[in-house]
Amino acid sequence: MIMPESWRTAVITLSDKGYAGLRMDESGPLIKEIMEGAGYDVVSTDLLPDEQGMIENRLKEICDREEADLILTTGGTGFSERDCTPEATLAVAQKNAPGIAEAMRYASLQITPRAMLSRGVSVIRGRTLIINLPGSPKAVKENLEYILNSLSHGLEILTGTAGECAEEDMKKS
Ligand code: MTE
Repeated sequence: MIMPESWRTAVITLSDKGYAGLRMDESGPLIKEIMEGAGYDVVSTDLLPDEQGMIENRLKEICDREEADLILTTGGTGFSERDCTPEATLAVAQKNAPGIAEAMRYASLQITPRAMLSRGVSVIRGRTLIINLPGSPKAVKENLEYILNSLSHGLEILTGTAGECAEEDMKKS
């Protein structure tokens, strides 16, 4: 396994209730714990309401100031009227990176058919990868566990620190 080189990671929790102090944010701290346990460097944590403009602004700020290599959001990916995390993420995207969201839904569907209800997306803006995770701590854990091993290589390529995949394949054969 390629070890992560302390990739700078920003965590954003999207929850109207959390923002209003009516619900404890368990998922943001859990993401921080999992990522730090895997060697990542969590540089910021935010708790925002399901307001598309606010989410877009924070995503843009982190990417454009190059504050993080990776942004993990949690919450706001479902079907309720206020859920707008995927819309905010797509609005700031410069490139689509659909494989990560596809992989998470594929893995999650083996656990619960309700995984089809997450509309989360994965995209790139500048040199930052943005990934939407669902809101519950259970879903956060299940999704992160599935993608963690491949994430590091994607970040190496995105930030220009990786060798060519083809070269690595040649070495192995
Ligand atoms: N994915 C996994 N791995 N495990 C889960 O329990 N819950 C689903 C789905 N994805 C779930 C999951 C449910 S019930 C919903 S409604 C959607 O994520 C959206 O969640 P969100 O609105 O909290 O973002």
